[in-house]
Amino acid sequence: MVKMIATIHEMRKIIENEKQRGKTIGFVPTMGYLHEGHISLVKRAKAENDVVVVSIFVNPTQFGVNEDYDVYPRDLKRDKELSEAGGAEYIFHPTVEEMYPNGYQTYVEVFGITDKLCGASRPGHFKGVTTVVNKLFQIVSPNKAYFGLKDAQQVAVIQKMVKDLNMNVEIVPCPIIRESDGLAMSSRNVNLTPTDRQAALVLSRSLFNAKSLIEAGTRDAVELFGVIEDNIEEETSIKVDYIKIVDFETLEEVKEIKGKVLIALAAKVGKVRLIDNIIMEA
Ligand code: PAJ
Repeated sequence: MVKMIATIHEMRKIIENEKQRGKTIGFVPTMGYLHEGHISLVKRAKAENDVVVVSIFVNPTQFGVNEDYDVYPRDLKRDKELSEAGGAEYIFHPTVEEMYPNGYQTYVEVFGITDKLCGASRPGHFKGVTTVVNKLFQIVSPNKAYFGLKDAQQVAVIQKMVKDLNMNVEIVPCPIIRESDGLAMSSRNVNLTPTDRQAALVLSRSLFNAKSLIEAGTRDAVELFGVIEDNIEEETSIKVDYIKIVDFETLEEVKEIKGKVLIALAAKVGKVRLIDNIIMEA
């Protein structure tokens, strides 16, 4: 049975106890409304650690004022069942007051790479992410923490924070899990209308087309950008936020596919902002 923990105090006591018994802790931070993408992280954590903690916390500090904090989907009962099936021992689900009590004043911020891609369109977003992940790391003290490459920039930002602040945790990046038709799994997909859900398929399709071109020898980033943009423009209901072809380490734009390259995009499909990406090595 997965155990539900709502307070920092209780979570700390449990972790202390598990560590005294020599157990290693695998940690999967989430905002809940879990799907197979999240569960793939739980299973990986289970395979590599003695004890798995999943956190479920819709973190207000990473949402902008006009973003979807209020309509972010929530279903703790279902999350509990899925986490348990995935092999988690504990779910940490604090309230907003528990994490950010009155008078809260401390933030952790990574500079530079947070200005690009999603950081450019969501100012303050990554500051909220690094702050909450730092807090969660302090509470859960994991040996390893699991993050999905669905949010490739988030992985890069967390890795930078861990390196720069000498944090004693190993970050394990995990592959994107997709629906059978290619759509990257996301808690936000539930907010798509059936028509938008269909239109959204062009996002992954455009990335797969770019992948095929690279595999066939295309190296010109401008040409690849054009193909992705043309593909997405076929769906007039989609508003592209960005399409970027960048070096995976620096997130700087590249002219040519060389080394490890991240092709990332974000778009508004109806009311829902979706992201997707592929990582290519040439
Ligand atoms: P959330 O969007 O719930 O995602 C939790 C974790 O699941 C992240 O590491 C994310 O990359 C991963 N994930 C989501 N969809 C995935 C998919 N289709 N395939 C593989 N992994 C996937 O990311 C967050 O929450 C928050 O920013 C958080 C890190 C919890 C901080 O609040």
